Amino acid sequence: MATTGAPEDAYTAEPFVPGGADLTALREAAAGCRGCPLHRNATQTVFGAGAADARVMLVGEQPGDQEDRQGRPFVGPAGKLLDRALADAGLDPAEAYVTNAVKHFKFSQAEPRKRRIHKAPTLREMSACAPWLAAELALVQPELIVVLGATAGKALLGSSFRVTQVRGTVLEQKIHGRPERLVPTVHPSSVLRADDREGAYRGLVSDLDVAARALG
Ligand code: URA
Ligand code: SF4
Repeated sequence: MATTGAPEDAYTAEPFVPGGADLTALREAAAGCRGCPLHRNATQTVFGAGAADARVMLVGEQPGDQEDRQGRPFVGPAGKLLDRALADAGLDPAEAYVTNAVKHFKFSQAEPRKRRIHKAPTLREMSACAPWLAAELALVQPELIVVLGATAGKALLGSSFRVTQVRGTVLEQKIHGRPERLVPTVHPSSVLRADDREGAYRGLVSDLDVAARALG
């Protein structure tokens, strides 16, 4: 068949996602995903981590430098802050399923061996990677999704998502045909960058309090 569209229109993880797989099989398959160009420069796929029966799913943006090296989500500075905020809100980080909207680290680097600077994924890369998140949601079936920042919000709720408008509230929305409850909040990295770090941290914890209460 002749293809006339721009090649990047074809970015999708879909052909790499096995049907009927459990989380372990999904994770193994995701290691070989070539659904968009982000796999080329990153070290490895960083798939979600946590138990299949977790009550809460936390969704971030994409792995950072540390996550890319270690192959696990939220193990760097933002993850440390997130764990502390979850604990302060009475949620056990070890009991959550943690993942990202995009599974490969996107970065720019002025020269080899220079620091790798995080770059935000495009909408196209987010939609390419969406089948992995959809498969994780279908398997974990969390009681609540905590949406960490704008990228996760757009990936789950559409491009009109604005974190400032809905943070700290319980949203109910059908996602991939399943009714979900979601509590959006800011991305933990934004707390690390904030001028008023203490205030931003308190804001994050107060949103996570809402999530903890919604879980009951
Ligand atoms: N930021 C994210 O969004 N996800 C990670 O896994 C790490 C940092
Ligand atoms: Fe596949 Fe997602 Fe990685 Fe792109 S970012 S190659 S879609 S796993």
